[in-house]
Amino acid sequence: MKLQDAGNFTENIHLVDYLSEYYQKQTGADSLISDYGRPRESLDGGWQFGVDQYDNCLRSRWYDEVHTDEDGRPYPVDFSFDDWETIPVPSCWNLLRERYFLYEGSCVYTRTFTFDPVFGKPGERVFLRFGAANSSAKVFLNKQYIGMHTGGYTPFYFEVGELLEAQNRLLVVVNNTRERTGVPCENTDWFNYGGIHREVALLRLPETFIRDFFISLVPDGTYSRIQASVRVDGKEQNGAAVLNIPAMDIRVEIPIRDGRGEIVFTAAPRLWSPETPHLYDMTVSYGEDILTERAGFREIAARDGGIYLNGNEIFLRGVSTHEESVANGNAVTVPEIRENFALAREMGCNYMRLAHYPHHENAARIADEVGLMLWEEIPVYWAIAFDNDDTYKNAENQLSELILRDRNRASVVIWSVGNENADTDERLSFMSRLVQKARDLDSTRLISAACMVDLKALKIDDRLESYLDVIGINEYFGWYEPDFSKLPRIFENSRPDKPVVISEFGADAKAGVRGAPGRLYTEANQLAVYEKQLETLSGIPYVKGLSPWILYDFRCPRRLHALQNYYNIKGLLSADKRYKKPAFEAMRKFYAAHCLNREYIEAQNDNIKQ
Ligand code: GCU
Repeated sequence: MKLQDAGNFTENIHLVDYLSEYYQKQTGADSLISDYGRPRESLDGGWQFGVDQYDNCLRSRWYDEVHTDEDGRPYPVDFSFDDWETIPVPSCWNLLRERYFLYEGSCVYTRTFTFDPVFGKPGERVFLRFGAANSSAKVFLNKQYIGMHTGGYTPFYFEVGELLEAQNRLLVVVNNTRERTGVPCENTDWFNYGGIHREVALLRLPETFIRDFFISLVPDGTYSRIQASVRVDGKEQNGAAVLNIPAMDIRVEIPIRDGRGEIVFTAAPRLWSPETPHLYDMTVSYGEDILTERAGFREIAARDGGIYLNGNEIFLRGVSTHEESVANGNAVTVPEIRENFALAREMGCNYMRLAHYPHHENAARIADEVGLMLWEEIPVYWAIAFDNDDTYKNAENQLSELILRDRNRASVVIWSVGNENADTDERLSFMSRLVQKARDLDSTRLISAACMVDLKALKIDDRLESYLDVIGINEYFGWYEPDFSKLPRIFENSRPDKPVVISEFGADAKAGVRGAPGRLYTEANQLAVYEKQLETLSGIPYVKGLSPWILYDFRCPRRLHALQNYYNIKGLLSADKRYKKPAFEAMRKFYAAHCLNREYIEAQNDNIKQ
């Protein structure tokens, strides 16, 4: 007998597989819309909020809002949306109330909103945009299930024009349960914040609109040719888009055939660099649609063991950072992003590693403005289920969403496909496919991953490296590997044929606890590790960049030592960023002395040639 045939079958308490119907309707990278500068009708603010630990909303279909039985008699329900507490969107529920701090599971977000179809244009289309929700979101509008998104750090969209009324109810079930087959999986070294932690809005677009616009220098070393591509969505699949870049007196037509078009034309843009972060305002129009963009032109390349920006060899003077703050968790504000970048600039950085997942789109836009190169990454972190096809699809989708969102950002120079993954055959297949996907979506940037050294062979020898443009290496000699003497031996044993960036090194230090070298968790010990690391790394010619771990202390449920107190304290600053540990100054001095001058790089190259 089938479960449903049982005489006493009651769906919301007996149906075990209540989720698969929702998984049938997944949105992803194909839903992305180039939307910088497009007017947004914000749905941010106070939403009603319920912690739904047993998924009663999905099991009992609260979103249908049925309050009577089939004969119209009042029927008891377990929700009353309008009486629930409110939660700010965007935010992380962990910081809303003490009792929600460590909660992992489903939460229900709901709000009503009015929509005025009148002031729109005939044939307009309306899209619902989420900046990000960690880690999955099932979305219901006016009692209709419109789909779900998996991936906690990238935007997603739904077309909703047909469903909108004058009065609307939006309901979202967000779930942040860590899963073995998730991306990231169930074990990471950061706090698993939950919630709609980036903005929500409606976009009104013409019947035919520009869904994707990608512009960049042709990476051919001439710095004098610009390539642009356009993809349109709507009935008008054939026509011409017009690209205007007034400051360069450029107006070019891009023929659109079957919804797509591209063009290459000569130009002489002022090149973007950290020292000259020049950006151009531009518009692309097609039919009734006009898209604005603000982008810089630069070329990043890796060749002969070096990294070149606009033809000049550079050293990536960086630092790693998570996206979190004490007050807001993952829902960082623009001032908090600017503060992080200002601290990096104070350290002498021209580069940052935005670990371990796509940060807010504001980060790359601000980096474009202030002049910082960025490494952006998807959370293919540690022991991902590399043999699981759904896991691969999830990772590839998050990578595609990140690249489609940020590929017009001059500041982004490296896409990273993951972090610290064991060099197995399944991982090699999984991540080399991701590398190819990144190249298919963007042939203008460098592809990397944070790899680990082979501690048995004592060398840099990860099979994924042959697929990368830049080899990221995380190493913790002087901390997790107390025998520091292995580090120089590893470098001596290694002959990488491409530039290496030390994507992580560091040590824990309790802010304010000076201690002494050799005393773990003290500032003096962290400083001693940094000084030994910098002394060693500055002598390795093929190391072309550093991003020490990490700019500031961050929440981490794995860190229970009394001095850590649920924080990873490898920060160069305290978690509130008010206190600089001595190692911050060590980095600042190193960048000021070693890497700002040409001589340093040329000396490194001379060493390579010896
Ligand atoms: C790893 C990992 C980080 C982690 C760090 C640490 O390299 O990439 O996410 O926080 O080490 O152990 O502190």
